[in-house]
Amino acid sequence: MSAGVAVPLLSCFTKTARKWAEFHKKYAAFSTYFYPFIWDRAAPATGPFVTDVDGNLIMDFVSHVASSPLGYNHPKLTAISKKLAAIAPDRYAGTDFVGGYGPDPDASEVPTPSHLHHELIDITSKFGFGTAFLSNSGAEAVENAIKICYDYKRNFGYGVCFMGAFHGRTLGALSLNRSKQAHRVWYPKLPHVIDMPFCICRGKCTCGWQVLTPRGGVSMSKLAFTLDPEMGLVDPKEVAYIIIEPVQGEGGYNIPAKAFIQEVARVAKEHYIPLICDEIQSGLGRTGKWWAIEHFDVEPDIITVAKSLRVGATIGKSEFFPQAERRISSTWGEGNAISTAVGYTIIQIIKEENLLENATVMGNYFLDGLKSLMTRYPSIISARGLGLMLAVTPETKELQDKILKNAFDRGLLLLGCGYRDIRFLPPLDVTRREIDLSLEILDAAIAAAQG
Ligand SMILES: Cc1ncc(COP(=O)(O)O)c(C=O)c1O
Repeated sequence: MSAGVAVPLLSCFTKTARKWAEFHKKYAAFSTYFYPFIWDRAAPATGPFVTDVDGNLIMDFVSHVASSPLGYNHPKLTAISKKLAAIAPDRYAGTDFVGGYGPDPDASEVPTPSHLHHELIDITSKFGFGTAFLSNSGAEAVENAIKICYDYKRNFGYGVCFMGAFHGRTLGALSLNRSKQAHRVWYPKLPHVIDMPFCICRGKCTCGWQVLTPRGGVSMSKLAFTLDPEMGLVDPKEVAYIIIEPVQGEGGYNIPAKAFIQEVARVAKEHYIPLICDEIQSGLGRTGKWWAIEHFDVEPDIITVAKSLRVGATIGKSEFFPQAERRISSTWGEGNAISTAVGYTIIQIIKEENLLENATVMGNYFLDGLKSLMTRYPSIISARGLGLMLAVTPETKELQDKILKNAFDRGLLLLGCGYRDIRFLPPLDVTRREIDLSLEILDAAIAAAQG
C-alpha cells in the first residue's frame, strides 16, 4: 500500500440524501445525526456493503455500533424474521405471558425468548450463571442490573463506576456515565455514585489508580484504599455494586491493563460486592471471545448485553436475582419475538461459523494494518484493538473529523468515539479482502486530511 492511494470520491450527501435528511429532521427530536449516511433500506445490501439513497455503495465498518454483528441481510436472519413476521403482535407482554411455539419446547421450529435464555446461560456457563432477564435496550439491561444489586444488598448503597464509562441514557444508567458532560448535565442523577480511574497504563501506573497510602506509604489501588476498613472513606458494606466495561466503548476504546481489571475483581470479591460487567458493546464475540472479560481471567457476577443480541439482557448468578414477583418486569421485556429469535440465531451462527476465531484472526490482521498506517503517518498516535473492536487516535479532533469525512467520501463508513478517536467494528464474519479495502481507503483518507 502506498501513501495516499487514489480512491474515487462519492457524491455523498447530495440530492436524495439531503431530501431524506430534511424530511426526517422536520419533526425528529434533535439527536446525534453527525453522519451523512442515509441507508436505502429498499436497495441491495450484503455483509458490510450497503447502498445509500443516492445509489452509492458504502462499506459499513461500524455495523450500527456493533448492533448488526453480521452486517446486512444475513440469509439466516432474514429467514427467521420473515417467518415470525407472519404473527402479530411481534412484541407481546412477555413477562406476563410466556410465548411458546408448538407442543414441545425442545423441538420448537423457531427460537422463543425462553430458548434465548438457554443459549445465554450456555455461553456464560464458565461463570456459573443461571438466570437471564430480557429487556428492550442496553440502558434497560443496565438499569435492571443495578436494581438487582440494590435489591440483593438492601443497603441503599454506593455504586462504583469508572472514568470514561458509558452505560446508557436512562437516569440510572447516565448517573454512571463518565465519558461526556452532554450525557449528564441538568439531568438528576442517582446519589452515592463514586468513580475510580480506568487504568490503561502499561508499566508504571500514572493515572491515579495506584495510590500511596498516607500511613506507611504503601502502594495500593485507589479502590482498595477507598474501601479499606481502616483507612478508606467508604464502608464496603455500603457498596451495592461495581460496574465496569471490560473494554470501554463510547469513552474511547480503552483497553485496560489486565492487572487493573483483576484488582477490581479482587476487591469486589473481598468485600462481597457484586461485579457487573457491561458488555453491551464488547460482548457476544466482538473481541474474539464471547465476553471481553474473559481476556482478563475474571469472573463477573452479572453481565449486561444488548446491541449484537438485538435485545437487552441482564444475565447473572441466580442468587443475585430477586425471588419475588414484580421486582423486575416490563411489558415488552421477554416478549420481543422477532428480535429474540434473531439474537438466538446470531449466537448459533457465531458457533457454527467459528466467528470467535474469525474475530481474533481478522482482528489481529486489521490491527497490524492499522499499526503500519501509524508508522507511516505520525499524526496517528495510537492504534489498538481486541478482536474486532479497534480504534486509532489522530493527533487532533480536527484531524479526526477530516479523516471520518474523507473516509466516508471514499465509501467507508466509520464512527468516532472518546474525544478524537476513530472506531472500527466490522461484521464478525469480515474477510481479509474487506479489511484490505478498508485500509486502502483509510490510507487515502488520512493522506487527504493531512493536505
Ligand atoms: C457499554 C454500553 N453500555 C450501555 C449502552 C446503552 O445501550 P442502548 O443505547 O441500547 O441503551 C451502550 C450504548 O452505546 C454501551 O456502549
